[in-house]
Amino acid sequence: MVVERTQVAIIGAGPAGLLLGRLLARAGIDAVILEARSREYVEARIRAGVLEQGTVDVLRAAGVGDRLDREGLRHGGIYLSFDGARHHIPMDELTGGRAVTVYGQTEVVKDLIAARLAEDLPLRFETEDVRIDGFEDPGLGRPTVRYRHGGEEHELRAEVIAGCDGFHGVCRRTVASQVRISERTYPFAWLGILVDAAPATDELIYARHPEGFSLYSMRSPAVSRLYLQVAPEESIENWSEDRIWSQLHARQDGDGFAVNEGPITESSVTPMRSFVAAPMRHGNLFLAGDAAHIVPPTGAKGLNLAVADVTVLARALASHFDEGDDRPLETYSDRCLARVWRAQHFSWWMTTMLHRDPAEDAYGAELALSQLRYVVSSRAQATALAENYVGLPLERTAGPGPARIHAAEAVDG
Ligand code: FAD
Ligand code: DHB
Repeated sequence: MVVERTQVAIIGAGPAGLLLGRLLARAGIDAVILEARSREYVEARIRAGVLEQGTVDVLRAAGVGDRLDREGLRHGGIYLSFDGARHHIPMDELTGGRAVTVYGQTEVVKDLIAARLAEDLPLRFETEDVRIDGFEDPGLGRPTVRYRHGGEEHELRAEVIAGCDGFHGVCRRTVASQVRISERTYPFAWLGILVDAAPATDELIYARHPEGFSLYSMRSPAVSRLYLQVAPEESIENWSEDRIWSQLHARQDGDGFAVNEGPITESSVTPMRSFVAAPMRHGNLFLAGDAAHIVPPTGAKGLNLAVADVTVLARALASHFDEGDDRPLETYSDRCLARVWRAQHFSWWMTTMLHRDPAEDAYGAELALSQLRYVVSSRAQATALAENYVGLPLERTAGPGPARIHAAEAVDG
């Protein structure tokens, strides 16, 4: 048995765990990161692509923004397509110059792994059978993480455990009897493809169409990323390349505009769900990112919420370790959940407005279209979409808690 000590045991090397490790290292706090998968697997897992302004700021301040600044694509707007026409939402103009950056989650993860390994800080891939214990009552023993690695049993004794192990991880499961779950499932999924072709659009196009939702996104000037609404539990085997392209053309083309085809290098189907497990703190276990909450991808919020959680957590842990001030840890869950619920509502709203529910009647379809027409014709509605999409400032939604946010906003004007 190998016994080791650290201040923070981080479970999971997705964006949440890796960024938390980075922020703690910058604050002089020790951490060990344990990841179930291999480095190759984690670096190749294609997922999010849209970073909020605040996420970019955090990555830059953490010293991992160089490649992001060189290769990321700044987008000051998006298009909404419906009723056979495309409408531009000028997010930068509506939000006083804020924008999103298109930069793949794979690249964020690669940058964070490279930075951690360059400093020779502990990051263990392919850990097996991770079990957590001793975090519930700080009076009764210390948080312990047991796991297998390289054929040996390990015991990691920590002061705090950060559960950054995603939706299917072990941390939330360990406290399952103590969490309050709020959730929605949706009667559709997303089929995503990565394509070696220049995007035919300068900004993302979210399209509602009688055949279903589609999204035209990108990863670089030479790589497109596209999504199609499909049935839940849909098998990718049912979707030939011809069928994918014909549906993308049907849902996106028009007015002389056409999706640009090319070789498909990756394809997969992602289920859609909304999910919140509260609270996010259980004794000395802190849940962060997808381990605590999931949003449907339509609002591009999942990765950004993970970044917001660990930014709040890293600051709170620095107060705890450096100043002995536990108040920020005590409010961690409430502050994160305030932001999480704003993103939950925004993601649910974007999803229901843009997708075709297979059971939708004429009334439901007209409501969604009316909402879209209102968004593209009212500056107030477009601004509401834009400020949520580019991301509300951390201190406004991860502030003092729901009751006092209104007061803070009133002061902000
Ligand atoms: P994860 O990335 O899931 O990382 C958790 C890590 O923990 C994984 O590496 C996992 O292997 C590891 N792990 C699990 N169990 C264990 C265990 N027992 N022991 C050790 N390690 C374990 N979000 C956006 O913001 N913008 C977007 O544009 C966007 N688009 C998306 C598109 C798709 C198709 C998908 C699937 C998601 C998208 N998201 C988007 C969501 C985003 O990808 C997630 O919210 C994000 O990955 C959450 O990061 P995380 O670190 O919390 O969790
Ligand atoms: C991407 C994913 C999203 O969920 C979204 O809303 C926008 C873009 C993407 O993968 O590029």
